[in-house]
Amino acid sequence: MIIRHSLAFRKDKITLYPSVLMKDDNSLPTESSFSFQRGTYEEFYAKSIEKPKEFWNEHAHILDWHSEWHQVLDQRKAPFYRWFIGGKLNLSYNALDRHLTNYRRNKAAIIWVGENGDEKIVTYHGLLKRVNALAQAMRDSGMQKGDRVIIYLPMIIESVVATLAAARIGVVFSVVFSGFGAQALADRINACKAKMVITADGGRRSGKLIDLKKIVNEALEDCPSVEECIVVNHMNNPVEMVEDRDFWYHEVTAQKHVQVEPEWMDSNDPLFILYTSGTTGKPKGVVHGNGGYGVWAANTLKWAFDPSEDDRWWCAADIGWITGHTYIIFAPLLLGVTSIMYEGAINYPEPDRMWQIVEKYGVNILYTSPTAIRMLMRYGENYPSKHDLSSLRELGTVGEPINPSAWEWYYHVIGHGRCPIIDTYWQTETGGFIISPTANLGIGMLKPGSATLPMPGIFPVVLDENGEELGINEKGYICIKRPWPGMMLTLYNDDERYKSVYFSRFKDVYFNGDYAMKDKDGYFWLLGRSDEVIKVSGHRIGTIEIEDALVASGDVSEAAVIARSDSIKGEAIVSFVVPKIGVRKEGLQEKLKRDVRKAMGPILVPDEVHVIESLPKTRSGKIMRRLLKAVYLDQMPGDISTLENEASVTEIRESIERFRKEIKK
Ligand code: WT7
Repeated sequence: MIIRHSLAFRKDKITLYPSVLMKDDNSLPTESSFSFQRGTYEEFYAKSIEKPKEFWNEHAHILDWHSEWHQVLDQRKAPFYRWFIGGKLNLSYNALDRHLTNYRRNKAAIIWVGENGDEKIVTYHGLLKRVNALAQAMRDSGMQKGDRVIIYLPMIIESVVATLAAARIGVVFSVVFSGFGAQALADRINACKAKMVITADGGRRSGKLIDLKKIVNEALEDCPSVEECIVVNHMNNPVEMVEDRDFWYHEVTAQKHVQVEPEWMDSNDPLFILYTSGTTGKPKGVVHGNGGYGVWAANTLKWAFDPSEDDRWWCAADIGWITGHTYIIFAPLLLGVTSIMYEGAINYPEPDRMWQIVEKYGVNILYTSPTAIRMLMRYGENYPSKHDLSSLRELGTVGEPINPSAWEWYYHVIGHGRCPIIDTYWQTETGGFIISPTANLGIGMLKPGSATLPMPGIFPVVLDENGEELGINEKGYICIKRPWPGMMLTLYNDDERYKSVYFSRFKDVYFNGDYAMKDKDGYFWLLGRSDEVIKVSGHRIGTIEIEDALVASGDVSEAAVIARSDSIKGEAIVSFVVPKIGVRKEGLQEKLKRDVRKAMGPILVPDEVHVIESLPKTRSGKIMRRLLKAVYLDQMPGDISTLENEASVTEIRESIERFRKEIKK
């Protein structure tokens, strides 16, 4: 249902989509604006939409091509759009080799900061040497163009080396977030039948060691496709190495003076697969190619943040997510920018860690998430005020809608009112930003909580249930008309699912599952997900994955998951489980949490587990999550005429009350 009336919208905002706290007092989006110099955005954008061929012919030259394309866009097999047909290039060449012929040779490519205070600076020249050494080692172990490698590494330089080494020889890489557990890792390895895994002896997080190799060993028991595992010695942590399968990274890359000729990739050859949550079944393997993705990554970073030659850019994301792929690795290196990479938690050992890094390294552009800002905001102004933050010129955010109060804190307390807030809206599937202010083209007016205007080449529309375009301030589904170079190529090995997830809801537009509205100035306000996908600390999680993980524990016959709002994490996970006959209820909650953590990793662990006798279901047997949510939020449940077991509602209400009393104690 689309609610057209603004007052109705005001009410519904909190009730249905608790993550979307447009303003902390639940009033309508604020109109207060912050003005910056407006440049050439309008003209530039208009050209991108009116003359896309001409536009992309020009802007694809942000990269060096081994051979030029003969056609900008092929739409014959839509929605499988193909960009820069006939063009050949290599992204590791573009990220490294091409900088060595000029003044960037000895410039820092990556400044790495360890959680324990270690620091490593790798120049463009040094990074190329490392990439060549690993690419050679991968070749020596039989990896060929098109084969898949899983990268399961903490935030260390080797993770950048590994992606670029794979890109150099045309091996398709798939990074698995190092916070995922053994089952989640095995699922991803098996889904793409990877031949090789690159991992480490451990990672650091808030002072604790994460035993990655142990998790890999466990996962590999069920992964027949994996022939070899390369292990980085990062922590001197004793690990179990399996003979003829496991090799030390420093040993296989010991040949330091190798040169590996880049594999000239077709523009539409796959570069990587990144698994991301959907509303049904196993995670989806989003496939990005070389040409379109590279062109999109480099141009979007330039347009939105306009990094200059001697800037230090810090994207404080994890390489396990698309943000890290595009904006820690590819975009900055393609542009020859210095990218800062931090290994640990941003509040460890003290809540001023982030500000300390900004000061010490003179960070010019900081890019982080609303959940991080909310967390740091909670510690108060004393922490940032201890540090000289005057190097900062722009502040970015990504991952979920940012509450205007967090926006203003970031703007005033961190940016001292000097730095525009670049709220970048995008997704794993879009490859890079799709809605964002553009420092390079002039920013103009900013409104706290709005990601502002579309990137060049992006044509967003807001549609109602029936696919009709909505008017000003009307809330609906945000969709994108027309292809853009950064869009995914497909879902790995599943063209049908690609079509059905993104292109079947409405005709001829890309549907991404988010709610939004457009205001009178054409600004977009993102209003959270319209589907069963939730955002916990900016992590995208399908409620189905949590439900599956709970059931996989073996103790429960059924599970249902909803989200509640959380002032720091954005959303928190609330689960309802029905134990199997004969399973003891005592200690069950804790056991389930442990099981989910072990198999899937900490991000899927429910914040609340309610053990009940039955779940509310329709007569046809479908779990009524909508009703669970209404009961949880103490709201009118709407139409419940199809509810079969009314008793479950009472039981759920009691369990929630008990939980709240416990918390108060
Ligand atoms: C979903 C995509 C894109 C990199 C990080 C997450 C939400 C992302 C914003 C923003 C409002 C946002 C959307 C989107 N989202 N950025 N600036 N404002 N919502 O990538 O895991 O693929 O998640 O994150 O709901 O669909 P992802």
